[in-house]
Amino acid sequence: MAADRSSSPAASPATFVRCDEAPAWRALQAHYAQTGRSFDLRQAFTHDAGRFANFSQRAPHLFADVSKGLIDAASQALLFDLARQCALPAQRDAMFRGEAINTTEDRAVLHYLLRYPASGAQWEPAGLQGLSEQRAQVQATLDAMLDYAERVRADAAYTDIVHIGIGGSDLGPQMAVRALAPYTSSRRRLHFVSNVDGHELDGVLRDLDPARTLFLIASKTFTTLETMTNAHSARAWFEARGGVDVARHFVALTSNVDAARAFGITTTFGFWDWVGGRYSLWSAIGLPIAIAVGAHHFRELLAGAHAMDAHFATAPLEANLPVRLALLDVWYRNFHGLSTRCITAYHSGLARLPAHLQQLEMESNGKRVDRAGRELPFATAPVLWGEPGTNGQHAYFQMIHQGSDVVPVEFIAVREASHELPGHQAQLLANVLAQGQALMQGRPDAAGHRHFPGNRPSTLLLLDRLDPASLGALVALQEHRVFCSGALWGINSFDQWGVELGKVLAQDIGQRLETGDARGLDASTAGLLEIVRSRT
Ligand code: F6P
Repeated sequence: MAADRSSSPAASPATFVRCDEAPAWRALQAHYAQTGRSFDLRQAFTHDAGRFANFSQRAPHLFADVSKGLIDAASQALLFDLARQCALPAQRDAMFRGEAINTTEDRAVLHYLLRYPASGAQWEPAGLQGLSEQRAQVQATLDAMLDYAERVRADAAYTDIVHIGIGGSDLGPQMAVRALAPYTSSRRRLHFVSNVDGHELDGVLRDLDPARTLFLIASKTFTTLETMTNAHSARAWFEARGGVDVARHFVALTSNVDAARAFGITTTFGFWDWVGGRYSLWSAIGLPIAIAVGAHHFRELLAGAHAMDAHFATAPLEANLPVRLALLDVWYRNFHGLSTRCITAYHSGLARLPAHLQQLEMESNGKRVDRAGRELPFATAPVLWGEPGTNGQHAYFQMIHQGSDVVPVEFIAVREASHELPGHQAQLLANVLAQGQALMQGRPDAAGHRHFPGNRPSTLLLLDRLDPASLGALVALQEHRVFCSGALWGINSFDQWGVELGKVLAQDIGQRLETGDARGLDASTAGLLEIVRSRT
């Protein structure tokens, strides 16, 4: 039974109850059919004076309001039952103590260790003593990496840093460097190159001086096609433009030190197979963040994430923000049938956050079989998308207000501006509050084209300011939320086999582009191959 498994420290992830096998799942189905389907937010506020207080909470570095969600006390209680019956706390604890919960790759999932401080930790997970070797490696690498970052910052010879990486080796650092721009110095430019499309690298290299440029080659595996292609082209450019001392101008952030050495790189900052790519911005992959904002602020980023880790590890389910958000996600996805979530950050520094969250959620939970390989009879990861507010208001918000699909919106707002331009911040904040209000209230009395149905759900995550600690907490919150929904769905959130097939076929087609051999191809691909070849 669920209770027994949840209390067993040795329970294997494969034995946990999947959400649809839990009694609460059927209770939720009945509740949805009876009242959930016809739930009305406006009436909910009218009938419950305490709704805002009951459906909002503080968590480290942020405030969350889910009171404009399609949820009431009864559905929330059943969702907490679901979490308990699926042994969510035990699943979380199995991750924290280093069990190989990434079963298809037989790996532990320990990115929280990357931000677990050497001293002054806010909580101690059971089993931490067994991870002392990993902790020592983390601290040694962090110290060395931050020391190097400070040396780069002090070295006036470097005017440009080019970070080459893709996926988790790009999205997190790129997002964070942009978000923390007020903490950076304008003396140094940071460029991010990810796409194998040469336009990207070419556009960056065009204005650079090899003698003043530092390349960071970021790849966990050091085999990824895009990154290796860009890295080789960067080195060729460097040498062709008279650059000397590859070892000084190229640094590797990788767990494959041998491959980096074979490339000619001697300065390498490593990480480990228990750090998934999309969870790696806290590791050596975060070097561009550290170069941008300095060691002190990088440690604050880690501290903010650690505070959220401690909250996730210790807060009761009912006050545990990652758990509450994940339960709402499951409620929307599996009962309301909502297939997307819009992330709209009312801070232009967070413009790359949706891209980072896309990989986090969709690469983690975009799966259709459970841990045991059984096909799932329910939907999993939603499509995440979004642009910063207020820009999104003038693009896709029409559809969110009046379109035929209901799209839950996650607003992210920041109370204090990090600029001093008068007037802007009040307008920005007025807009984010107004959008949530408009989605909920609608204009039900208006007719025809002017009718807004309302009753459209949104969540607001509010930071006091966009500083390193709150950014760390915000991102860790999202990581844990994805963990929770994946755990309830019974899937392995930490592999990504779905990206493999395209990579293999691209290799095959790459060879065919050279030879023109179309044998065995489908008619469409063969026809396109011919057209592409005739134009090259
Ligand atoms: O696209 C798949 C993937 O493996 C991601 O999970 C990863 O973040 C990205 O490629 C980059 O991988 P690497 O860091 O090994 O170059």
